[in-house]
Amino acid sequence: MNSDYKIKDINLADLGRKKISISEKEMPGLMALREKYGSEKPLKGLRLTGSLHMTTETAILIETLKDLGADVRWASCNIFSTQDEAAAAIAKTNTPVFAWKGETLEEYWDCTFDAISFGGNLGPNLIVDDGGDATLLIHKGHALEEFYNTNGCIPEITTTNTEELVVENLIRKIHKSNPNYWHHIVPDIIGVSEETTTGVARLVQMQEDNELLFSAFNVNDSATKSKFDNLYGCRESLADGIKRSTEVMLAGKTVVICGYGDVGKGCAQSMMSYGCNVIVTEIDPICALQAAMEGFQVKKLENVLNKGHLFVTTTGNKDIITLEHMKQMRDQAIVCNIGHFDNEIEVEALNNSDALREQIKPQYDCYTFPNKKQLYLLAEGRLVNLGCATGHASFVMSTSFANQVLAQIFLAKNKPSTDLYNLPKELDEEVARLHLKHLDAELTVLTDSQADYIGVNKNGPFKKEEYRY
Ligand code: NAD
Ligand code: ADE
Repeated sequence: MNSDYKIKDINLADLGRKKISISEKEMPGLMALREKYGSEKPLKGLRLTGSLHMTTETAILIETLKDLGADVRWASCNIFSTQDEAAAAIAKTNTPVFAWKGETLEEYWDCTFDAISFGGNLGPNLIVDDGGDATLLIHKGHALEEFYNTNGCIPEITTTNTEELVVENLIRKIHKSNPNYWHHIVPDIIGVSEETTTGVARLVQMQEDNELLFSAFNVNDSATKSKFDNLYGCRESLADGIKRSTEVMLAGKTVVICGYGDVGKGCAQSMMSYGCNVIVTEIDPICALQAAMEGFQVKKLENVLNKGHLFVTTTGNKDIITLEHMKQMRDQAIVCNIGHFDNEIEVEALNNSDALREQIKPQYDCYTFPNKKQLYLLAEGRLVNLGCATGHASFVMSTSFANQVLAQIFLAKNKPSTDLYNLPKELDEEVARLHLKHLDAELTVLTDSQADYIGVNKNGPFKKEEYRY
């Protein structure tokens, strides 16, 4: 067996394989794409790097990409989200995988680099990214080389952010051993397909600043991704994360959901279904009005700090719950985040404060303030559904990952010029279609005269680009 992997324990491979076999039955989109493209092998001869939570569902994505011909290397996109048995099952098939639950930040970024490095000084042709860390490492490394080539020296490190320091040190280490590494690999990169809202926000920024080095596909904004995974996925996996860690009774509790976008809507609905009193915070008047008209109270966080039993951040923004906020919460409050990055909650400030931290178990910490008030933090502020549970269920990940596979095929076949792309609506509708039968859903077929009357093609697309679902 190939030993090109870094995982927790290869002996978990059999358990991982059993879980993969069960989940394959719940991922009809990916299985249909294997059936459709397995013999054509549109990804043949292409090196593919993945930076996306190493779960059972991702294992099925990886095996689909391999079935389509890709040469795959994989890392997780979060230090707590790996399911070690899934990683072991993938390693056992001789696919290089670098991920385990509970990585340090240094290990995490080393793993991302391992997934990018194909040996023989080669990098990927294609990237599957979730949150944009693989893309970021490549762009940061490339920019460092640019600076060196122009100025003849390495720039000083100015950041004091812990994780940014890790990245800055890593790219300096790489530069020392191979000063032209990133310039050597970038021309081979066809493009990246990006899974999540926060990763897409990063790409939009890079495109606006004219910094994109290769093409990028926005998978998140396919309707069959954000209107399903972000909404229905979180509607189930938020509660899973809270329950598996704290085992707390939710009924009757007051839950404050910060942000009422796709994820926030799913979270609010979930908590309401448990019998919670749900309060929403929002900055956008449209989302605030939506929340109000769903019957949720909409308040400023500062006005409900002593009311909430549980606080959930879902914004993709930073500094949502500060140390000062946490100090003002009621005794026994639970705080967690389901947005992509942990900077929604001031965890570092909490850790450096006068609150005493005690670990109940991994990813479940109690903080006691000098006034004896206690607060529970889940997954150290990282995404609670993947840190404290196993993320979304397979079926909804099949819709997300079918979009990923279609984006990868598009990139491989068309090699589009450097820009930020969305999947065409025909493919979005196709992804939905692939999942209907599994739920015994019957689709009504337009008559010719009905199609004529509403002015659409009988076989779709059924909506205009700007339709919001
Ligand atoms: P979104 O843009 O649809 O929603 C975010 C909402 O937060 C917006 O309505 C915005 O107005 C609001 N917001 C921003 N700043 C705020 C503030 N200071 N206070 C209150 N509200 C504020 O994004 P989304 O698709 O819902 O994704 C949210 C986050 O969740 C992103 O980081 C995304 O990457 C991540 N995500 C996580 C998972 C998961 O499984 N954990 C799944 C999908 C997306
Ligand atoms: N994001 C949310 N849930 C996930 C899962 N189960 N696998 C991979 N990525 C995810």
